[in-house]
Amino acid sequence: MSSPADRPFRSVLYMPATNERALAKAATLACDAVIVDLEDAVAPEQKSEARKHLKDWFAARAAKPAATIIRINALSSEWGAEDLALARKLEPDGILLPKIDTPRDILEAGDALDDETAPETVKLWAMVETPKAVLNLGAIAELGRDPASRLAGLVAGTNDLAKDTGMLMTPDRRYLLPWLMQIVLAARAGGLVALDGVMNEFRDLHDFGRECTDGAAMGFDGKTLIHPAQIEPANKAFSPSEAAVAEARAIVEAFARPENAGKGVISLEGRMVERLHLMQAERLLGRAMRP
Ligand code: COA
Ligand code: MG
Repeated sequence: MSSPADRPFRSVLYMPATNERALAKAATLACDAVIVDLEDAVAPEQKSEARKHLKDWFAARAAKPAATIIRINALSSEWGAEDLALARKLEPDGILLPKIDTPRDILEAGDALDDETAPETVKLWAMVETPKAVLNLGAIAELGRDPASRLAGLVAGTNDLAKDTGMLMTPDRRYLLPWLMQIVLAARAGGLVALDGVMNEFRDLHDFGRECTDGAAMGFDGKTLIHPAQIEPANKAFSPSEAAVAEARAIVEAFARPENAGKGVISLEGRMVERLHLMQAERLLGRAMRP
């Protein structure tokens, strides 16, 4: 895997490591990545059973889903070290660290992987789900500028944020918005992938579609999901729309015209278009052409 940002992360589906039926489906689903969970979707008394399922699944799986991320328990918990040791051996595309508070939490996990000489393709992802993590977002995202940190992306942990702050979760997520936007901003500052939090009401695909559109409008690269039915709407919302692709093409074509050669700013259908819009358009077309 080159840079994690080179591949899509529109739909990233959690599966409890204890759910064998879900794991068996993983390779057949159209999600861009799966997160096999050892943390909160697994009860304390099932932790070692979950590790065994995870190990068996890695050994048995014939086809690999687009990207595989393992969510371990916090390194400060009684299960964290053993989870990390196992995850390192399995060499997934990513290891997701829950409940991080500071950059140190990520550096510690990175040091442990380096000590075990884990391949550099094993990236770290960080859940942003504690009040401290939100307050420390700038410093956390800065790690993204140093490839040695392995940090590849930030994942909004909205259920934990609601639990830890007392914030009321409303369908429009109005109280959550400032923190979600901080996550996107930090991810961009650090060159990281930004994933929106889950929607718990997994039967409500109408509201889910709206929540995906909102997340895409905020600038997220994709959304974390809890149910296969959520994959298709997420893939759609986080892919460039036909209208956006047509507009990007028009901008690229306009700048390519001989009369616009060397110009910094041009007029296109009554609108000012600058070279920064050209860069934006080229980036969008790159995303649209990704397999
Ligand atoms: N990944 C893969 N397959 C899944 C899945 C998931 N996250 N969630 C459900 N499925 C499968 C089920 O196994 C079932 O297939 P089967 O009939 O072959 O067993 C099918 O999709 C339909 O499932 P459904 O009956 O609609 O849902 P459910 O009641 O079995 O499960 C949840 C609902 C919420 C318990 C389940 O979706 C889940 O565990 N999601 C992930 C939770 C998680 O990981 N949370 C941690 C992060 S927030
Ligand atoms: Mg959480």
